[in-house]
Amino acid sequence: MAIHVDEANQTFHLQTDHTSYIFQVLAHGILGQVYYGKKIHVKPQYNELLKRELKTATPAYSLDDPDFQLGAIKQEYSDFGTGDFRRPAYQLTQPNGSRITDFKYDHYEVVQGKQRLTGLPSTFDDTEDDAETLIVHLTDKLIQLDLDLSYTVFPHQDVIVRSANFKNHGVEAVTLNAAESAQLDLPDSQYDLIQFSGTWARERHLIRTPLRSGIQAIDSVRTTSSHQQNPFMMLARPNTTDDNGEAIGFNLVYSGNFLDQIEVDQWDVSRVLVGINPAEFGWKLEPGKEFQTPEAILSYTADGMNQLSQQLASFYSEHLVNAKYRRMERPILVNNWEATYFDFNDEKLLNIAKQAKRLGIEMFVLDDGWFGHRNDDHTSLGDWFVDPKKLPNGIGAFAGEVHDLGLKFGLWFEPEMISIDSELYKKHPEWLIHVPKRRETPGRNQYVLDFSRPEVVDYIYQMMAKVIQDTKLDYIKWDMNRYITEMYSVALPADRQLEMPHRYILGVYDLYARLTKAFPDVLFESCASGGGRFDLGMMYYAPQAWASDDTDAVERMKVQFGTSYGYPQSMMGAHVSAVPNEQNGRITPLETRANVAFYGAFGYELDISKMSEEEANTVKKQVVFYKQHRALYQFGKLYRLDSPFEGDGNVMSWVVVDDQQDHAIATRYQILNHPNAPYSRLYLKGLDPDKQYRVNDSEEAYYGDELMNAGIHIGSAFDDTAEVKQSADFSSRRFMIDVVK
Ligand code: DGJ
Repeated sequence: MAIHVDEANQTFHLQTDHTSYIFQVLAHGILGQVYYGKKIHVKPQYNELLKRELKTATPAYSLDDPDFQLGAIKQEYSDFGTGDFRRPAYQLTQPNGSRITDFKYDHYEVVQGKQRLTGLPSTFDDTEDDAETLIVHLTDKLIQLDLDLSYTVFPHQDVIVRSANFKNHGVEAVTLNAAESAQLDLPDSQYDLIQFSGTWARERHLIRTPLRSGIQAIDSVRTTSSHQQNPFMMLARPNTTDDNGEAIGFNLVYSGNFLDQIEVDQWDVSRVLVGINPAEFGWKLEPGKEFQTPEAILSYTADGMNQLSQQLASFYSEHLVNAKYRRMERPILVNNWEATYFDFNDEKLLNIAKQAKRLGIEMFVLDDGWFGHRNDDHTSLGDWFVDPKKLPNGIGAFAGEVHDLGLKFGLWFEPEMISIDSELYKKHPEWLIHVPKRRETPGRNQYVLDFSRPEVVDYIYQMMAKVIQDTKLDYIKWDMNRYITEMYSVALPADRQLEMPHRYILGVYDLYARLTKAFPDVLFESCASGGGRFDLGMMYYAPQAWASDDTDAVERMKVQFGTSYGYPQSMMGAHVSAVPNEQNGRITPLETRANVAFYGAFGYELDISKMSEEEANTVKKQVVFYKQHRALYQFGKLYRLDSPFEGDGNVMSWVVVDDQQDHAIATRYQILNHPNAPYSRLYLKGLDPDKQYRVNDSEEAYYGDELMNAGIHIGSAFDDTAEVKQSADFSSRRFMIDVVK
């Protein structure tokens, strides 16, 4: 049993294998947060944990109850304007203009398992993993509104999933101004905020800063989760490392505007809010209607950030990713984007596909430019029919030729977009998101379709479905190359315009849901100018995501290392591309490029038909090698060893270990080589201390404890890295660690 309720004291204790989450109904039906952390015993109540002092200059609940101060207690889902001046979990405007509410505890229910949400991506429990759901019902009697707080406990994953649902039973509409998915009031502020920030081509770099008094937040108002801030964040104690210490992870199963906020109050209580960004949000709740927030993920560990990453990665593959892809090895692909950009014809593409087949690659992906008359990024978005100048026999025939080679076939779409120069725009200019009589802001020379309108989603669905059928498609790269401006829908009334950002995302989810249902065998990879929508909402439909448009091996180290804190390797699309690199002109060895990309959903993104014989042979060997070890790379337990975000950032290393602790692959990357360098060692993790292993088929066997505690000697990159011919910079060393049978 994961949910323990003490009826007499109205205490709710949610227990996972290693954690406890406790809250209680306090005076006046207010929910008070009691504890979240390392597992403690179940008791009827926790008076010690609830102790507060009477605070001066803090409003009382009432004249009758002067000792109860909303601003001085830890709450579970708080309001604003009735004594607590910290930012609230929700706010709603009523017909008389008031934003004051009074939700009181009414009753609770516990249900087995975890229902999926309707219309939103969500977690589930179809593996009978003992999930239990607690729903706490609160009511505001004056306006006849119900508020259901839902908590699902995934005991073996140490994860709690939260969301809120507002239901209007009254006779008048109210407007939600804010509706967060979760609030967590922590008793102190001795935490570092660890966030993953960046920009296009430099996504998810780790930033660690101590909490301080006041509000600190990461958010997005771009209608994408964004390149700039990722919705995943951690709070970790100042002494927490990858190996030790307390850390709490927060994430949101959502792809639009989000808010992760921490407010450290005057007594150093830290209030965490996770949910839809209240900036650019509003929702008119008519009588009889409900509003469901997306789900927030909470996970705690006392054993360091690496443990947190592993429990999250395992949770997502069991309870968020489409079950079909849970452990399905992802095909090795070649994508033509960096090989040809828009300049291709069927002959050029088939040369790449034929070479792919020779090299053992499994899928050919045709990227942007195959439709309408798209020879640059000014045209044709929305016209999802083939450009006969490039593929004269049609997209079906071209797909047939690729399939005949024995390769899978994938296609690029950007379903949410429209170009002014398109057939679609001629037919439906009103489908473009815009404000009448105002300037329309382009992004990458294109505009966005109003996905809040079901007829738009339906039109795009029909077009895509036809192509999928004609091509017997195996894979779709779903791109999204601009943030949304002039957020407005000509189809919505004035008092619903603030609903537009959320309605837009619901439309995106609707299209994903329809396509994944109708075509369950199509593998989706999400993309948004690289990693601009690398989030859990996307992961529900698309088990992999293009991690970044920066394919340079050195830049990718940081992107992939940062991403690994919050997401599994199997999700990270990672390709070997040409040198000099398209984004930064850097020349790195082919070996290093592969050694970085191996730790993800692997592929190539360069003109393999023009490679030298020697390079082609290297690629062939890489493909054979990756096929042998891809299950380990994609689904093995990842341990971070040396961080590129620490010290001078010159070295990065990590290791993947299989479930039996029999095989592991460690890789150490060194950016610049130094002459007469100091000695260094690589200390492994995750091995069985009592098993003996060989390293790269060494004659000598080493105990796991020896490899982990005493480490492996790392020699100079210059004289013993056989593959490095031109330069010893940007080198990588791979260590195959295999148990002695
Ligand atoms: C941005 C993506 O991230 C690239 O990989 C590529 O698909 C281009 N868009 C195509 O326009």
